[in-house]
Parts: sequence; structure tokens; C-alpha cells
Amino acid sequence: MTTTNPRPASVGQSAEDLLRKLEAGLPNGEIPAAIFGNEDVYRRELRSIFGRCWVFLAHESEIPAKGDYVLRKIGEDSFVVVRDEHGGINVLFDACRHRGVQICRADSGNTSHFRCPYHGWTFNTKGELVGAPLWRNAFGGMSKEDNGLSRAAKVATYQGLIFATLDHTAPPLEEYLGGMTWYLDLVFGLNSHGVEVLAPPQRFVIEANWKSGADNFSGDDYHLGTLHRSVWEIGAFPVPFRENMLGYHIQASPGHSLSFSMAPTDDEPGPKFFGYPEDLVATFDTSRISAHQLDVARRSRVFVGNIFPNFSILALPMTEDGANHPPTGILTIRTWQPKGPGKVEVWNWFCAYKNMTPEQKERVYRAGLGTFSMGGSFEMDDTEPWITVGRTGRSVAAEVLDFSLNYKMGMPGVGIAKRVEDWPGPGIAYWTRYEEGVQRNLFSFYTEMMRAAPGEWPSFRFPEDDVAPGSTASGSPA
Ligand code: FES
Ligand SMILES: [Fe+2]
Repeated sequence: MTTTNPRPASVGQSAEDLLRKLEAGLPNGEIPAAIFGNEDVYRRELRSIFGRCWVFLAHESEIPAKGDYVLRKIGEDSFVVVRDEHGGINVLFDACRHRGVQICRADSGNTSHFRCPYHGWTFNTKGELVGAPLWRNAFGGMSKEDNGLSRAAKVATYQGLIFATLDHTAPPLEEYLGGMTWYLDLVFGLNSHGVEVLAPPQRFVIEANWKSGADNFSGDDYHLGTLHRSVWEIGAFPVPFRENMLGYHIQASPGHSLSFSMAPTDDEPGPKFFGYPEDLVATFDTSRISAHQLDVARRSRVFVGNIFPNFSILALPMTEDGANHPPTGILTIRTWQPKGPGKVEVWNWFCAYKNMTPEQKERVYRAGLGTFSMGGSFEMDDTEPWITVGRTGRSVAAEVLDFSLNYKMGMPGVGIAKRVEDWPGPGIAYWTRYEEGVQRNLFSFYTEMMRAAPGEWPSFRFPEDDVAPGSTASGSPA
């Protein structure tokens, strides 16, 4: 017997075809699998998303002194993030103005200048050409001023996080971050002594598409009980799975999504303040966040979020060894650095509040390394399925069968999640975390960026922002 299924109208795999399918499918919670593997889509992402959006590069604590630098990526391209002699932060394209040779040969360091290894042109920490061998013979009469290193179009920081964009038409960083600033203040400003990174970033490559990481950290809590079951079994995480699904999914603003695991009331047993012990929290200076933000932080067990396109943040109680150490709050920040349609390099930093003791910082670092790192119990779980998402995305079968993925959780009539109208922060909030609007928000903004003409930007506000109660609340410090 032969069963014949309706023949899909597959028209090939150009980025344009797939974008049309994405636009048509998203309102129904359907996403074409091929966007996780298609070469044409990837090329367009590099230009339309990484070539335009604000992307995270470094934390200010990585380059505290004049001359400190780190080498980072915007899309696939290298940029030197360097603090100049006046304390300013410069983001310089790592390509000599003479022949385009890479001028920075270390991942990080301290220097007064960068000297090109090819012919010796020398640039200062602002990227200005300050010297070249045999200048008078070779270039006498030519202006040095016009031959400095190329720079990112705009550089800005928020809560110590350094971002840059290659697009001169990009809106200011705070406008781009939109409602997400309220949540960055809540996590990074919970203690106004500030945050520092505990070590240089770990880096590891996965044969997966960068969007799988962004998708997961936008708020895929549903996978925890299945994929990470063993983590509960060894006592590394202190909240039972079903209880951990209580909390909010929030579309902070277009593109930026997050999720809180949260106790329904203050009286609930279990961790508060992302698992930081109360006596440690008592040392925090919480004076620069609002009462609403403090209340949300107090009830929070987990914060996980993604700033479009590829910068994720995670705060939660973790331990590397439940038998010997109770879980403690950890804070990790990470980028999903694209290296091709089927390859992503994870850059992963562990952070602590600056006024924590050396012992407390070491606990955070150990607990972080044991869980969210290349060899960590959580990380190893996640990478394997993402590899197969990429494989599915590249497959001939996904193309000819017009295979789409199900992102319907939390849509009207699907599951128990309900829109919340009295959430005190910005954005669109749902209770509980059985919800995938956070991912649909990521892909909706993604589609708009992929479509936007040069110089045009999608809206950074939801239509609801003007009407939903509490939606414009802001406790941002001045
Ligand atoms: S390529 Fe750099 S000095 Fe010639
Ligand atoms: Fe995970």
C-alpha cells in the first residue's frame, strides 16, 4: 500500500523563500527548519543582522587600565576593543589600512600601539596612524590622518557591558535595548558596587547554528526536566522541575526576551535572589534599583535572557557538587558567535559582584565551571541536541518536505500560560513558563531585521507598550 501525503510547494532554499515562509508561519507558531542551516540565510544574517545590530563585545572589567585590549568579533570579523590613554573605549577593525593585514596578534594584552607585521605601520590605541618605516621616502607628503584604522560606527556601554554597531544609522544603545534595560538594571544593578568578570572567557566551538543558543536562552525552560534530568538527580539545582516552571516569560521589547523562575509568593521556601545567600545579599547596595525591581529579584530563582541577536545572560543557583556544596548564585554572560551556518563559537564569562569576598567569588567560579562550561553538566547536555537541529536545518529532507518546527506553546488555546497585566516591568509578560512567545519575539524581530532596507529600523516598541498597565515602568538609575 502506498500512502501519499500532500505535496508541499517547495520552491528551493533561497533566503528570500525561507523568509517568506517564516513570515507566513510565525503567526501560527511555525518556523521553517532550514533557517537553522541554510547558507544563503546565514550570509544575509551576517550583513543584515551582525552588520547592523548592537552586539556585545566585552565587559569593562576586562580592560580596566589604559592600553588594555581584547580581541573580539562582530559577526565573523575581528575588532580590537581597547582602552586609550584618555580612558575611552575604542572598537577598531583589526585590519591594517595599507594592505588589510591583521594588526593584533594576541587575544588580550596591554600596549601603547599596534604595529602591523607586514610593513610596520604603527597605530595608537585610538587607531590613529602614528608612524611607518622610512615614512618620508615612502609616503612623504601623504596625510597620516586619513590612514588610521577603521572603527565601529558606534560604541556604548550599559551596566559595564560594552556594545558596538557597524551601522551609523543604528539608534542609541538604550533605545535598541528598550525594555531590556529594566532587567539589566535588576540583575547587574542589584548590587550597585558593580559586576566584574572572574576570568577571561571560555571559548568552545559547537557544530550548531548560532540561533539555537539565542532561542534556548530566550526562555526554553521546557527542556530542563527532560534534557537536564540528571542535574536534578545529583542535587545541583535546588528547585523541583515543576515548581521551576512557575514564573514569567517576558518579551522585554522587540527581539529581546527573558524568563524568570519565580516563587508565587514571598513566603515560599527555596532560593531567593537567584540563589545568592541572604547574608551575602545583605552586603549588596540595592539603592539604585526600584522597589519593584528589588521585589522581583527577591522572588527570583532563575533569570535567563537573550539580547538580540546573540548575547545571553543567566543567573541561577548552581553547584558543581551537590554532595559537598550547597548551590549558590552564579552569573554567566555569553555570546553565540557565528562561524558559519553550522558552526557557533560560545564565548562564556563568569561574573561576580565586585564586593564579594575572594572565597565567594571562587565558589561562583567553581559552581559555574562545573555546570555552564565546556565540560559542565548543563552545557554538555545542551550542545548535543543543537547539533542535530543544525543537521535537520541543512537536510535535503527538510527542504523537499517543507519541514517546519513547532513554536506554538502558549498561543491562544495552547497550554496554560496566561498574559499578565499587572507585571511591574516593561514588556509583554506571561505566567507560567510553558510558553514560547519569547522565541516568537526573537524570530519576529529577526525577520524584520532581515527585511529592513539599509538605514531603516524596525520598531523597538510593541503596539501594547502604549496601553498595557505598567508597561512603561522604569527603575533605571540615572
Ligand atoms: S599591510 Fe600593514 S603596513 Fe603594509
Ligand atoms: Fe539547557
